Amino acid sequence: MEHIVLRHRDIPDIDQLDVYLANGGFEAFKKVVTSMKPEEVIDVVKASGLRGRGGAGFPTGVKWSFLTKNRPAYYVVCNSDESEPGTFKDREIMEKNPFQFLEGLMIASFAARANIAYNYMRGEFWPVAVELDKKIAELRQRGFLGKNLFGTSYSLDVHLHLGAGAYICGEESALLESLEGKLGQPRLKPPFPADKGLYQMPTVVNNTETLTNVPLIISRGADWYQSVGVKNSAGTKVMCLSGHVNKPGNYELPFGVTLREVIYDHAGGVPGDKKVKAVMLSGASSVVLKASDDILDMKLDYDSVAGKGAALGSASIIIMDETVDLAWVMLKTSRFFKHESCGKCTPCREGTYWMLHILERLNKGEGTKADIDLLNSVASQVQNKCLCPLGEFAVTPVLSSLKTFRADFDGHAKDGGAKPKPAAAKPASKKAEVAAGD
Ligand SMILES: Cc1cc2nc3c(=O)[nH]c(=O)nc-3n(C[C@H](O)[C@H](O)[C@H](O)COP(=O)(O)O)c2cc1C
Ligand code: SF4
Repeated sequence: MEHIVLRHRDIPDIDQLDVYLANGGFEAFKKVVTSMKPEEVIDVVKASGLRGRGGAGFPTGVKWSFLTKNRPAYYVVCNSDESEPGTFKDREIMEKNPFQFLEGLMIASFAARANIAYNYMRGEFWPVAVELDKKIAELRQRGFLGKNLFGTSYSLDVHLHLGAGAYICGEESALLESLEGKLGQPRLKPPFPADKGLYQMPTVVNNTETLTNVPLIISRGADWYQSVGVKNSAGTKVMCLSGHVNKPGNYELPFGVTLREVIYDHAGGVPGDKKVKAVMLSGASSVVLKASDDILDMKLDYDSVAGKGAALGSASIIIMDETVDLAWVMLKTSRFFKHESCGKCTPCREGTYWMLHILERLNKGEGTKADIDLLNSVASQVQNKCLCPLGEFAVTPVLSSLKTFRADFDGHAKDGGAKPKPAAAKPASKKAEVAAGD
């Protein structure tokens, strides 16, 4: 299949400006600036059915059209924070296909009538930022950024901003706070960024992968994009595979591919041909799915995954084989969320602390069955009571695995009738370790 987002896999050296230009690079940007109105660009993106790849899957064109109703955007901000454990797609895009990403950001800026765009990157991405900065300087030098672009009245510049590496700064309102130089904590919504975003001005926030789709949508048209993928989930999705698969990595595949195809046809199956026990589809914040035939044959698109009570999120798929102990995995995810809770609201701040405490006790073999019920109770009390989705993310894997894999937790309880299990061995690969929230 031809790649849309990971085009560097088809076109060698596409990270070099001349190679990108020779392959149609910046023609879409030139076309929108010289011959289209911002509303026309928004209509094409709307008609393409493109949905946000940052997690929530909100229709991109619809998001952009919120702005035109009131007043144009002042800023477009790209969310390249990529802090979800098990997610590593945006980094590959920025490193290997940087100009297509930047062109998408620039087209979005024109559509939103913004003259300044920011790319917010997590602090750990500084080596990527150094290279990307050079690419932006090249674009200024070659007249693709700056004043009066292509002889029109439109001006645009792009700036990079490095955060300090906090998961919460991927949440769009916390990201905007951080970009303003404040503590990265979420804002109460509404108002949404389209009304009051960066410096209280209308702002579009989109994910890196989302924007990288845009140049090809403009040059090839909405119908072409709709022809890839399935109804309500147009185009491709970069799936980040980690955990127990032979070939972990990014796979750009059309929506509608089955989980079984992703694991066995693309990611090389499970090491030692072990059975898959559980799957998390959207990183550490996922519902934990028991890997029945029904789940393995599930199509990976927004509607089909929602039909199974889960969410595709940013498609950071973590595969766990039959040896994995879910009580240990929950210890790892809870340690991550306790560390990353920004502390602004009590249920999340206290709940993540106590969930971790109980899971530590259980995993040491010092807990009882009553502790497992307590864990369920604490997680249930955090649910639906937090200011931002991070609190929900923290309890989702715990509550779902308690429901589906209760035996794993019982196996640790002193009075559980079974010997406490030792913690599972640490995964060998670095990626798997990250996926487990270590
Ligand atoms: C705790 C938390 C972390 C998030 N992290 C990211 C992230 O790293 N990258 C991202 O694009 N979106 C992230 N999001 C979603 C953003 O808030 C936002 O929905 C997204 O950037 C919008 O872009 P899109 O419409 O193109 O998907 C996160 C949300 C939450 C609640
Ligand atoms: S839910 Fe957690 S991360 Fe979100 S605002 Fe509250 S304390 Fe901060």
